[in-house]
Order: sequence, then C-alpha cells, then structure tokens
Amino acid sequence: MSKSPAQNPWHPASWETRVARQMPTYPDPDHLADAVRRLSSLPPLVTSWEVDKLKARIAAAQRGEAFVIQGGDCAETFDGCTSENVVQKLKVLLQMSLVVLYGMKKPVVRIGRFAGQYAKPRSADTETRDGVTLPSFRGDLVNRKPFTEADRRPDPELILRGYERAALTLNFIRGLVDGGFADLHHPEYWDLDWVSHSPLAEDYRRITDAISGSLDFFESIAGRPIHHSRRAEFYTAHEGLHLKYEQAQTRLRRERWYDLTTHFPWIGMRTAALDGAHVEFFRGVANPIGIKIGQGMDTEWLQELLAVLNPDNEPGRITLIHRQGAGNVENQLPKMIDAVHATGSHVLWISDPMHGNTETTEGGYKTRRFENIVGELEACFKVHKEMGTYLGGVHLELTGANVTECTGGARGLTDADLARAYHSQVDPRLNYEQALEIALRLGGLRDGA
Ligand code: PEP
Ligand code: CO
Repeated sequence: MSKSPAQNPWHPASWETRVARQMPTYPDPDHLADAVRRLSSLPPLVTSWEVDKLKARIAAAQRGEAFVIQGGDCAETFDGCTSENVVQKLKVLLQMSLVVLYGMKKPVVRIGRFAGQYAKPRSADTETRDGVTLPSFRGDLVNRKPFTEADRRPDPELILRGYERAALTLNFIRGLVDGGFADLHHPEYWDLDWVSHSPLAEDYRRITDAISGSLDFFESIAGRPIHHSRRAEFYTAHEGLHLKYEQAQTRLRRERWYDLTTHFPWIGMRTAALDGAHVEFFRGVANPIGIKIGQGMDTEWLQELLAVLNPDNEPGRITLIHRQGAGNVENQLPKMIDAVHATGSHVLWISDPMHGNTETTEGGYKTRRFENIVGELEACFKVHKEMGTYLGGVHLELTGANVTECTGGARGLTDADLARAYHSQVDPRLNYEQALEIALRLGGLRDGA
C-alpha cells in the first residue's frame, strides 16, 4: 500500500467518502451490494506476480529500454467475446509488436485494452429521444444499449457477467499464447488475412522473412532452439471506472493491495479530480497505473496527481498517456514534460493519438482521420526528442477486423466508406490494416504517403 498520512488511511472502500464521478445510479442498492459480495468471493482475474512483472517492464520502458503497445476496442462488448474476435485482436497486436521490435530493435511490451474494458464514461447521465429521458448507456458492465427503460436500467448482475466474460477472454488468450500461437517458428500464424490485397503486404512480408531467416541463422549457430521465441507476454488493461467492480477484486498480497481485475488500470480524463473517488481508490493499489492527460489538465494538477498516486516515486508505477490532439501537442506537451521534470518523478510517456482527434462527419459518423493520428504521433516524437525525454509507447483504439471507422490509411478510406462496416459501440477504431500501418511507421519502416 502506498504510504498515506495517518489521518487519511486508505482501505479498499475509502473512495466511498469522495465524489465518485461517472458511476451509475443503481435503483436497488441491496442488489448491488449482493452482487459486489459475490464478485468479492470469486478468484482474481490476474495475479499479483504478473502485475509486478508488468511494473518491472514499464520501469524498463521508463529507462528507454522497451516500447509499449497498448491497444484494443474503445468498449468491449459481451457479444464480442468470440473466438474470432479474440484471435484477431491478439494477432494484430502480435504483428504490430513484431514490426516495431524489428524496426526499433527494442523489446515490446504488449498490453491489450481487453478482458475488462466494459465500462464507459459519458458526457451526460441521461439521454433524451422523442421526449423520453433514460439513463445513458455506460457499457455492458452497467446497462444495455437499446433505448428502453428496462435495458437502460443499471443492472448489478452485469458486473458478474463482465467478470465472467473477462475470465473467458483471458483464459483463451493464455491458452493461445502457451500453445504456441506467438511462436516465431511458425510464420503461418503471422500471416495477414488480407496479404494478397494489401498495399502494405510487401513491406510486412519482407519483415517476417527477415525475422525467420535470422532466427534460423542464430539457432544453427547455437545448435539449439531459442526458447524465448516461442512465447509472448500479454498484459491486460482497462479504464478503472467502475469502482465497485475494481474494489471487489482488490486483494492483499505480500502486505500490499492489488487491483486484480487487470494488470494495468488507467484513470480517464473525466475521473482524474484530485479530491475524487477514483484518485483515492488508485492511490492505494500497487498496480502500475495510467493517467490520461488531455487539454483540460494543467501542470499543477498533474504534479499533485504524481504526488498523491506515487509518493515514493516507485519506478514502473506511473504511465502518462497524453492525448491532446494533433494540433495541440507542440503547444501543450512541453509544459507537461517540464512540470514532471521539476518533480523528479519516474514516468513513462505514451501517446494516445486517438482521443484528441475525434470528429463527426456530415453524414453523422464519429470518425478519426489517419493523417491526424499519424500527425499527433509524429508531433509527440518530435517534442520528446527536443525535450530529451523518451516517448515509450502508444495507446490505440484498434480491432483485428476489417471495419471502416477511421478514414485514410494506405487504402485511402473516405467518409463515404464509413457506412460500409461501422461496428464500434463508442469510438472509431483503426482496422487491422491501419493498425499495422501505424506499426510500420513507428518502426520507421514506411514513410508517410
Ligand atoms: C478511452 O480511452 O476510451 C477514453 C474515454 O479516453 P479519455 O479518458 O482519454 O477521453
Ligand atoms: Co475511446
């Protein structure tokens, strides 16, 4: 547990004395308490040893020795927990990490926005249609999307259904990874489904051929297999939004409290108030945590968050995920870097080039333009280089499917293409090909078109 002032002791429910923003209002508190009690007695989704291992990986990235790729859906759905979806998401993250590893010559830490990304912050508590006002949809962990009174009523049972879906997802991921899905000796697992059509296929093929060739070469010299090439570590992450869900899986291990719903929870833009419940909860758990930094955050606020959330300046504990928008980075990021520098804090800087670049098309689609996403990434690399800091990762909303939610990329998707395969429940995601193109650019393996 982080040291806390004696007059302000932390415990897993101490957040309840603070204002909890973005929490649903359950009509039946006894039912909620019962669901939380049941969730509290179920085994944790991840272990404290894994959490500590990720913290060590992030500490390495803070020193410039690794790069983090964090990605997945804006909102996972219970219906989306299918074999196909999990495999495709794992595959695109693996392929991206392979490309980045090859280009940057650094280990890549893979963190999925999965196995628990079921709760969403909303700008309004209610939604009104044709004179009818109902609670907003807050993700499958809370209520259901159809606009009916019954569907929108927050249902405490859904935190148990979310836990189960997360467990099913994780179980399958662990099985795939242990079973050799990530084995570099089997490039067929690494094949692109769209390989024969994609404008990127040739670049990608060249990389996998080179990796296979190098692996064969080193194994011939060594006269034995390189075992590390058979397994890949995967970690999970979600926005730590629903504090009852997080609290129910918070357990004491070796004298520290761990939030064992996930390896890496992050605090979103809308719940980072210093005196709020979310900051109170996350100050007490030992996990590595992310903090989103957007346009509304000022330097004093950030400095105080670092003091409250990492009073001992523990390496690996804090990742700052900046998402300021392509046009604002050069103006806003330097002062944040200076402010952190002034505190002497160890942090990992990663760029979320998605959430500051959302726009709505004339046709009413929420989208993001590939050139703005790349533009924000490039601006972030430039600023960090100028400031002498290390940009150690990216945070992306992506899917392994062939959706049309973001425009641009090698295939030049336009606004007119959005209607074709727009499936996201909330924010627009990069599709498989666009995600891989980002990886090629991160690795310096493809220039801007
Ligand atoms: C998100 O990551 O989906 C999200 C809501 O981000 P932010 O808190 O940065 O707006
Ligand atoms: Co989002």
